[in-house]
Amino acid sequence: MSQILENDLLIRAAQLQQTERPPVWMMRQAGRFMPEYWEIKNKYSFLEMCKTPEIAADVTMLPVDLLGIDAAILFSDILVTAEAMGGDLSFEQGVGPRFSNPIRSKADAANLSVDCLDKLSYVPDAIKVIQQRLDGKLPLIGFAGAPFTILSYLVEGGSSKDFKKTKLMLNNEPELAHSILQKIADVTIQYLNLQIDAGVNAVQLFDSWALALSWNDYREFSHKYNAYILANIKRSVPVISFCKGSSVFAPIMAEAKPDVISVDWNADLKIIKQSLPSGIAVQGNLDPFVLYADKAVIRKKILDLFERMRGEGGFIFNLGHGIMPDIPFDNVKYAIDVVKEFRY
Ligand code: CP3
Repeated sequence: MSQILENDLLIRAAQLQQTERPPVWMMRQAGRFMPEYWEIKNKYSFLEMCKTPEIAADVTMLPVDLLGIDAAILFSDILVTAEAMGGDLSFEQGVGPRFSNPIRSKADAANLSVDCLDKLSYVPDAIKVIQQRLDGKLPLIGFAGAPFTILSYLVEGGSSKDFKKTKLMLNNEPELAHSILQKIADVTIQYLNLQIDAGVNAVQLFDSWALALSWNDYREFSHKYNAYILANIKRSVPVISFCKGSSVFAPIMAEAKPDVISVDWNADLKIIKQSLPSGIAVQGNLDPFVLYADKAVIRKKILDLFERMRGEGGFIFNLGHGIMPDIPFDNVKYAIDVVKEFRY
């Protein structure tokens, strides 16, 4: 679906155009660093917020109204696909996501449903409400978790520091891992197409924990499924591919042919951009920890990045990963103002 947008900076940058300034949005821009988020969060559980279209729309709009970013991102979570497939998901304060029925055996894997799109109907419902509120002003980004990252949550039963159980499965029972990854990939294709049909203007695939993998394992257990997803979703809107580890894996990520690669903060963004095949834009890559620093430092680091990217069409400014919950709101707002005042 193509739609005329008042502010189409993100779409133009994703199409490799030189924009008058870089577009800006931030991963986790609607979250706990915002006092207004807590006003809503104190009344509902996180999953209630995701599953009630009016509330999801309210939260999606917070950074639009309070920060002035150039793109909204659907308020949801990457783990909703795993829940729809049969994962018993909860979010506990201070613990993070938890699956009470981890997937570790062939029998567990066989129980995962691929035919579960009806359980996610609250997402297109939310997209429609959000698009009414956005009223053509800004693009709305939809998203899904990448199969490897989702697999890690299903196998570990929650967040993990070292992905020990997941890696044990990849090493000892690769066929089992592949069977689960294939199911997740098939659901992800249906889920992203559902979002595209409902009217999102771009989609991002989050492979947050790819960083844990070796080069060969990344190819076998992550890239293969991301490429399959990108080859099978409707390509009517730009696709952004994000992973922690992109500084290393960018050349492999490019083989999946995303429109944009979102880069973590370890690499020089210009070197990554110039090393990619022509036709791929980049997004990134400020270290989110810079947003704890003094404003003069925040300003300098953003302007240094922009100077480095001068002349490079196809650049979307973002962080190398999400905003942490205790970053001062004022600093996030300041960073966005610095971007918006900049002109090439
Ligand atoms: O970016 C946005 O503002 C859109 C909404 C969004 C959330 N999660 C909201 C959220 C998006 C795009 C995500 C993606 C997500 N979720 C990822 C990939 C991005 C990344 O950061 O790598 C991952 C790995 C998850 C899984 C997840 N969800 C975790 C690990 C947690 C707990 C985090 C913690 O520190 O406790 C969540 C919960 C979550 N997702 C919150 C929000 C606003 C916090 C919920 C709360 O209020 O308690």
